[in-house]
Amino acid sequence: MKVRPATFGSVMAAIACAAAYAWMPSFSIVPVAVAQQQPRQTSSFNSGKVRAPEDPAMVAQGKTLYAVNCQACHGPDLRGGDMGGPNLLRSQVALTDQHGENIVPIIQGGRMAQGMPKIGISVEDSNAVAAYVRSVIGMIGSQGRPPGEQKVLNIVVGDAERGRAYVAAHCSSCHSVDGDLKGIASKFPEPKMLQTRWVAGGASSTYDGASGKMTAEVTTPAGPKSKAETFKGRVLYIDDFLVTLELEDGTLQSFPRNGATPKVVVHDSLQAHRDMLPLYTDQEIHDVTAYLVTLK
Ligand code: HEC
Ligand code: HEC
Repeated sequence: MKVRPATFGSVMAAIACAAAYAWMPSFSIVPVAVAQQQPRQTSSFNSGKVRAPEDPAMVAQGKTLYAVNCQACHGPDLRGGDMGGPNLLRSQVALTDQHGENIVPIIQGGRMAQGMPKIGISVEDSNAVAAYVRSVIGMIGSQGRPPGEQKVLNIVVGDAERGRAYVAAHCSSCHSVDGDLKGIASKFPEPKMLQTRWVAGGASSTYDGASGKMTAEVTTPAGPKSKAETFKGRVLYIDDFLVTLELEDGTLQSFPRNGATPKVVVHDSLQAHRDMLPLYTDQEIHDVTAYLVTLK
């Protein structure tokens, strides 16, 4: 998405004007200066359609990315989730985002110190997620209710029989409904949490390290007096500048990263889940969830 600072500035000014205008009680005394600065055309802002419509393809892509990367923490309806992300429908940061300028830097790691991990998706994908978030905010009714809420409350709308067939065909190479998936519906009694869980395969992406699903080998380069050395362990933290491993003996070790040095090879057992994501149809997702909720 292209950023146009000049347009942005004038849009903000227009919003400010429109807001000031809207504040004035109708038919009351409007200060002369303000009235003169507000020619008739500002009335078009009264419709509330200040936001440019979002690109539907981008919103659709963003929705999928949101489900995998954000939903576990911010909730399927953006109102906050089981893993502690705040309600984005009340977030000033999200409410005032125009073209990703607020949201994208946060996805890219701007709030790590406050507990939101850097999400391992590209800037382009981050912009798509931001467009999706804006599209939901843009549709909120006056009570601050996301329009999709009814659907979210009843997400068990698929066909369990078809779901059973889908799981047998696509999931049984790694899972067994009599083994590791037995009782999955008791472990996640909330259908929407169960759905988030199976779609993502666990916690969402960058956080997988913390739940032990990501391991890595870090190979430090040979120096004048030292040999190259390889460290293996569970990834506790990783971004472009730092990787922290819990080594097999339990010690923690951090390695500053500078481009390709040291060499880092990450193994992510949930890669399969991420690779499958773009392949599911909505119907398949509904069917699989409808089946999994029966595995009490
Ligand atoms: C592991 C949990 C987690 C994940 C995954 C996550 N977030 Fe967050 N997010 C948080 C937490 C915690 C905060 C609060 C940080 C703070 O207090 O500044 C936050 C804050 C935010 C904020 C700022 C809200 C505000 O008003 O300050 C935005 C916007 C946001 N997240 C968007 C996203 C998007 C979009 C994704 C997916 C691409 C995402 N988050 C993934 C946990 C998460
Ligand atoms: C190539 C292997 C593979 C395939 C195929 C696969 N998964 Fe997974 N799945 C995993 C791994 C690895 C995990 C993480 C397991 C762990 O945390 O112990 C996981 C985790 C899960 C979880 C979370 C379990 C929990 O207790 O939190 C669910 C639910 C799940 N998968 C369902 C599915 C479904 C449904 C399908 C088919 C649509 C599927 N998986 C296909 C490898 C796979």
